[in-house]
Amino acid sequence: MKLQGKQAEWLQETLERTVSKLEKVSRRSKDKIPYTTENGVHDDWSGERIGWWTNGFWGGMMWQLYVYTKDEFYRQVALENEEKLDADLMDYEKMDHDNGFKWLPTAVADYRLTKDKAARNRGLLAAANLAGRYNSLGRYIRAWNGMPTPERDCRGWAIIDCMMNLPLLYWAGEELADPRFTQIARNHADTAMRCFIRGDGSANHIVEFDLETGEMVKSYGGQGYGEGSSWTRGQSWALYGFTLSYIHTKEQAYLETAQRVANYFIANIPESGLIPVDFRQPEEVSWQDSTAAAIAACGLIELSRQFEGRQAEVYLQAAVRLLQALSEKSVNWDESQDNLLEKCTAAYHDKAHEFSIIYGDYYFLEALLKLADRDLFVW
Ligand code: GLY
Repeated sequence: MKLQGKQAEWLQETLERTVSKLEKVSRRSKDKIPYTTENGVHDDWSGERIGWWTNGFWGGMMWQLYVYTKDEFYRQVALENEEKLDADLMDYEKMDHDNGFKWLPTAVADYRLTKDKAARNRGLLAAANLAGRYNSLGRYIRAWNGMPTPERDCRGWAIIDCMMNLPLLYWAGEELADPRFTQIARNHADTAMRCFIRGDGSANHIVEFDLETGEMVKSYGGQGYGEGSSWTRGQSWALYGFTLSYIHTKEQAYLETAQRVANYFIANIPESGLIPVDFRQPEEVSWQDSTAAAIAACGLIELSRQFEGRQAEVYLQAAVRLLQALSEKSVNWDESQDNLLEKCTAAYHDKAHEFSIIYGDYYFLEALLKLADRDLFVW
């Protein structure tokens, strides 16, 4: 479904501005793997901090730009990011359920485009490690690492974000013609449908399962405001993640779940079109999270692609509304500064709020390219 009239003009202009800015930024930051900016300059998470979960998004941006522009420069920078991640692939304690975020936009994107054997190997090693986190009693993928302490025992924790990592398993299942990977992904998605998605279409962030029985014990507010609240990036991961599970499996229940989450999200978009950190944060708190908007826009566009007519239009228009609000009010268009999105927030209870975060920029670019039907399918 294509945008028409003024919306088509807005898209063309916004995409051109975005690609033009990223052309300069990527040349300045080509030797880094950025997470945020300090005084408008990208920081670098290669080296000691290579295990950080966001370290695939820079490479993903480079692959998207390579496909869009055919400029060999972007492929080289993407490859460097992929190779730097090998240090992570050799460190069991640093790998966790976020393997999908790290290796889908890097090694798997590379393999899909080039059929490179080393890239395939990286993707499969990451997928095997992800599958190894499966708890067969509770039928979920364990989120984070760490031995139990009196303060924290996360052995039985799964988080909604993991819906975005499942496509690594769908890919490996297909690549190896081995249904075990797909079965693990589907079992996790089924558990998430049952234990994370509430009756109104909102989602829990963290769910704890009993290690002896596999039963759900309780939920935690996680990066959102509190237990029972509605952390917006978690809603976005659920929206996009269930849409992706539907795309990979054609399981109707995943599509219906994605629609419920999408309907809840759309109903909660504020007048401004800008997304708060938590849909249930206190009224006097105004912190925003632009990443939640960009991720939800990607999910809504993919969801729209699953329908025709009125239904497709509703999801598409919601995505356009989010992206127009971002481009008008929350994008830093200054080409001498390295970030695109402003007002991104990692977690409600962190000390810092509203800064730039690399995955916000990645999903903003992905969403614009999707609207133009020029995206590389990464997930
Ligand atoms: N996946 C972690 C986050 O969304 O902050």
